[in-house]
Amino acid sequence: MTQRILLVIGGGIAAYKCLDLIRRARERGMSVRVVMTKAATEFVTPLSVGALSNERVFTDLFDLDDEREIGHIRLSRSSDIVVVAPATADLLARMAGGHANDLATAVLMATDKPVLVAPAMNPRMWTHPATRRNVALLQADGIRFVGPNSGEMAERGEAGPGRMAEPLEILDAIGAVLSRGATSAASLAAVPQLHVGPLSGRHVLVTSGPTHEPIDPVRYIANRSSGKQGHAIAAAAARFGARVTLVSGPVAVADPYGCTVIHVETAAKMLEAVKAALPADIGVFAAAVADWRVANAGVEKIKKTATQRTPSLELVENPDILRTIATNRAQRPSLVIGFAAETEDVVEHAKKKRKSKGADWVVANDVSPETNVMGGERNTVHLVTAKGVETWPEMLKTDVAEALVMRAAEHLSRNEAAAE
Ligand SMILES: Cc1cc2nc3c(=O)[nH]c(=O)nc-3n(C[C@H](O)[C@H](O)[C@H](O)COP(=O)(O)O)c2cc1C
Repeated sequence: MTQRILLVIGGGIAAYKCLDLIRRARERGMSVRVVMTKAATEFVTPLSVGALSNERVFTDLFDLDDEREIGHIRLSRSSDIVVVAPATADLLARMAGGHANDLATAVLMATDKPVLVAPAMNPRMWTHPATRRNVALLQADGIRFVGPNSGEMAERGEAGPGRMAEPLEILDAIGAVLSRGATSAASLAAVPQLHVGPLSGRHVLVTSGPTHEPIDPVRYIANRSSGKQGHAIAAAAARFGARVTLVSGPVAVADPYGCTVIHVETAAKMLEAVKAALPADIGVFAAAVADWRVANAGVEKIKKTATQRTPSLELVENPDILRTIATNRAQRPSLVIGFAAETEDVVEHAKKKRKSKGADWVVANDVSPETNVMGGERNTVHLVTAKGVETWPEMLKTDVAEALVMRAAEHLSRNEAAAE
C-alpha cells in the first residue's frame, strides 16, 4: 500500500532540502502532500514543491477553495505520518504551545497520526533554554525527532548542532516509525524513543565501511566493504537507546537514524575521529581498515611518461585502530569488539586476532567471493570470546547487528552487577 506523507515545510534555510526529500520519497513509491508555512514560501516556491510532489500545495488556513476541496481537518488525517521539515525554532514553540494560528499548526493540532520533526536552526537557537523546553514538551507528547546533526551551518563561520537531518535520514526515520505499525499518535509508544532502552545512558562507538588510501589526488586503494554490517550495528545500538558515534569510511549506504556520523576517508583520519569520540562504553570496530597506505602518494596526479610507464608504489603500515583502542589503558571502552574478515581458517585467525589485538570479542566472517558477504545483505558469523566460539546461523546483517548489540548490552549489565 502506498505510504502517504503529509510534509509540513517550515521557514528555514534548510527548506531547499525538502525538494530532495520529496523526490526521494516519491522514488520509494510514497505519496507526498505538502503544507508550507508563510515563511517557507520565502525560501522555496510552492510551484517547485508542487511540481515535485505532483500534488496541490496548501499554504493558507483561510483559503476557501482549499477548505472546500479537502478542509484542514481531513488534510491532517488523510496521511500515514506528518513530517515537519525543517522545523524552525518558532514552529517548535508554536507546536509546544498548542497554537493553531496558521494552516501548518492547525493541521498539527488536528492530526491523529504520528508526527516526526526534523529541526533545523542556528546552534544557539537549538541550545537556547526555550528550545530545550519546547523539545522536551514535544517529546513528552510523543512527537518523534530526527536530527539535528552537528556541522557547518549555512551561515558562514557557524558550526554546531542544528543542521537538518539529511533527506535519507529522514526517510529512514519515517520508515522506522511506519514499520512499527505506529499509525496513530497513541500507538507511537510502540516505537522505541532514542536514548531509551537497554543501552540508554551508554555511548557506543562504531567504525564501519572501507578506508580509501590515496595514491594521488584522483586514485586510491580501497576494499569491497559496503558498510552495511557496521551501519546496521550503529542503528541497532541507537534503537537500544545508546548515544551512538559512527565513524564511517566512504560508503553508499545512508547514515543511520539517531547516530552522530563522522565521515572519513583514510585509516589515519579514522583513528583520529575514533580517539576524539572516546570515552565510550562499547567500541565496535567493524570497518575494513586498509592495512597499508602509499608512502609516496603523489601530490599531483601521477602521469604515465616515456621514462616511467609503471610507477612503483611503496606501502607503509597503517595504524592498527582496534589494537590502539583495545590497549589504551586510559580510555579503553569496557567492551571492545573487533571484526575479522577472512577468506580461510576464519575461526583460527579470529582467535589469534582477539588475543594479539587485546579485544574482548571478535566477530569473524568468511568473506570469500562465493559467500557474497561483502556488499550482500546476509552474513554468517562466529562470535569468538574468552569463553569459546559460537557459530551463529546465516542471518540478515540487520539481525546479526541486533543480536550482537543485545549480547553487548547484557554483557555490560552482568559485569556491572558482578562488580557491585
Ligand atoms: C534568511 C533566514 C533564514 C532563516 N533560517 C532559519 C532556520 O534555519 N531556522 C529557524 O528556526 N528559523 C530561521 N529563520 C527565522 C524564521 O524564518 C522565522 O522564525 C519564521 O517566523 C519561521 O516561520 P515558520 O515557523 O512559520 O516557518 C530564518 C530567517 C531568515 C530571514
